[in-house]
Amino acid sequence: MDVDMRPILEVKNISKRYDDITVFENLNLQVKKGEVLVIVGPSGCGKSTLLRCLNALEPIQEGEIILDGEAIRPGSREVNKLREKVGMVFQSYDLFPHMTVLQNVMLAPIKVKKRDKKEVREEALALLDRVGLLSKKDQFPRQLSGGQKQRVAIVRALMMHPEVLLLDEITAALDPEMVQEVLEVVLSLAKEGRTMLIVTHEMQFARAVADRMIFIDGGHIVEEGTPEEFFEHPKTERLSSFLAKMRF
Ligand SMILES: Nc1ncnc2c1ncn2[C@@H]1O[C@H](COP(=O)(O)OP(=O)(O)OP(=O)(O)O)[C@@H](O)[C@H]1O
Ligand SMILES: [Mg+2]
Repeated sequence: MDVDMRPILEVKNISKRYDDITVFENLNLQVKKGEVLVIVGPSGCGKSTLLRCLNALEPIQEGEIILDGEAIRPGSREVNKLREKVGMVFQSYDLFPHMTVLQNVMLAPIKVKKRDKKEVREEALALLDRVGLLSKKDQFPRQLSGGQKQRVAIVRALMMHPEVLLLDEITAALDPEMVQEVLEVVLSLAKEGRTMLIVTHEMQFARAVADRMIFIDGGHIVEEGTPEEFFEHPKTERLSSFLAKMRF
């Protein structure tokens, strides 16, 4: 169908600067519904900044970001509506410490979306079950491991029914034994057709989850391709040497 071929997210010629630093210039990107895009690149190349621009947490200086046909502009009246369509999970999960797991994931749908509490609770319980955390629903964040907290943060994002999910190095702060449990949740989301933009240093995971990979360096998308092309046949010296430095 035509409708599904239309990109859900379009980044058109955006430039992002902080004072005298240009993070990127004339960047273009399109993401289709159901597509999983993995973004890699050296530290400081602007991966987090790009995701923050997509969520209207950062203004852009030039260009346009269009989500589901509407422009994302920080400060505009529609920004909150649009932001609801974009779920974001960061390295640090920022759960509310004084609220239980269940309260944490129910909060935004009830407060922001004004949804029915009973229905939200049922959905929350089902999602917690799915990520293996139903038994933790009444615990507080401090009683959870890092991997468990990160799975709660994923559930919290999903509870808003986002069109697009942005994941920024969500396993970077976890002990190695907890990385897998979180990555498995993300893989299952990919299989059910969620649209996701994922920044990760886990190259094996990237290869397994991505429909498409992009490599950003020096303010530009240097290379783009299927995981196979990307990992087996990098076209540029910059990507080859970046991949050689990654442990996997
Ligand atoms: N609020 C800010 N003010 C000024 N400069 C910033 C700000 N946030 C980021 N930068 C700069 O923008 C560039 C991109 O940073 P960003 O955090 O997006 O990189 P990254 O690719 O996510 O790196 P990492 O892999 O280390 O997370 C860096 O040079 C950084 O110093
Ligand atoms: Mg970053």
